[in-house]
Amino acid sequence: EWTPANFVEEVVEQLKEKLGNDKVVMALSGGVDSTVAAMLIHRAIGPNLYCIFVDNGLLRKDEFEQVLHSYQDMGLNIKGVNAKEQFYTALFGLTDPEDKRKAIGRSFIEVFDQEAHLLTDVSWLGQGTIYPDVIESVSVKGPSATIKSHHNVGGLPDFMKLQVIEPLRTLFKDEVRRVGRELGIVESILGRHPFPGPGLAIRILGDITAEKVAILQEVDAIFIGKLREKGLYNQVWQAGAILLPIQSVGVMGDERTYERVVALRAVASVDGMTADWVHLPYEFLAEVSNEIINRVKGVNRVVYDISSKPPATIEWE
Ligand code: XMP
Repeated sequence: EWTPANFVEEVVEQLKEKLGNDKVVMALSGGVDSTVAAMLIHRAIGPNLYCIFVDNGLLRKDEFEQVLHSYQDMGLNIKGVNAKEQFYTALFGLTDPEDKRKAIGRSFIEVFDQEAHLLTDVSWLGQGTIYPDVIESVSVKGPSATIKSHHNVGGLPDFMKLQVIEPLRTLFKDEVRRVGRELGIVESILGRHPFPGPGLAIRILGDITAEKVAILQEVDAIFIGKLREKGLYNQVWQAGAILLPIQSVGVMGDERTYERVVALRAVASVDGMTADWVHLPYEFLAEVSNEIINRVKGVNRVVYDISSKPPATIEWE
């Protein structure tokens, strides 16, 4: 019978055997999957696991600092790397979703590789790949192309001859969370909504600038904060805001405004493969909308996305 306790015990045993005194390097994203994978490996080999957490400048507001502290509290051997400028430079002027994903993937590999080279005698690369990642990256490759390139699967630079270790490869998200709970990982990380590797870059339609990121971070923080405050956060699989590449006319006092539009998205799902939009209460949406428009300079209109997957996707890019 599959239980989180059995799984942890078995996998930690296997990891100990397989890794011995070897060193493992691993990038953490702040998400559930990489954190749980890291804690499993950490339980097996302790400080021989070297974790790297990159600030790509595309995370949620204050997330880098908060998550880095959580990792330190968990006893992980973790290094935080500020690479914002490198990512913004790589993204400069790009508008095509797949070009943005590729630029982010490349930058990430560069940063990670620089960091990994600072370590000596590392022979393994840890990854938080879970079962749906494996499926999606295989099955969406039709004769034409991938639907969306998930940059967190594969993508090793050739010159890093590391063997890959993926302790969660057979698990679904809910099982990953249960394993995480078994490992004593805090609820603030475990209960967290999925967040895409390319981060806010695929929620800003069009080109990426630091200014747009700052606006979206404020909007997103208001939306997510309200979901938490009203006890709705855990009823939603994933939520976030999207900054649209259009402006619309509004009125403030007796001034005409011509400012940005943001879309709010909240979906219910089991594994991200299909999803329904969540019927958030009107009063809730009204409160969030008011707060966004009153507090975030540069935004004068808020819309709610009522599309399900398929035929839409969860992210807009
Ligand atoms: P879509 O938009 O394809 O998203 O319905 C399904 C789930 O995958 C996440 N997502 C990504 N995660 N890299 C990631 O790590 C990506 O490029 C990426 N694109 C989408 C999305 O947030 C949702 O949870």
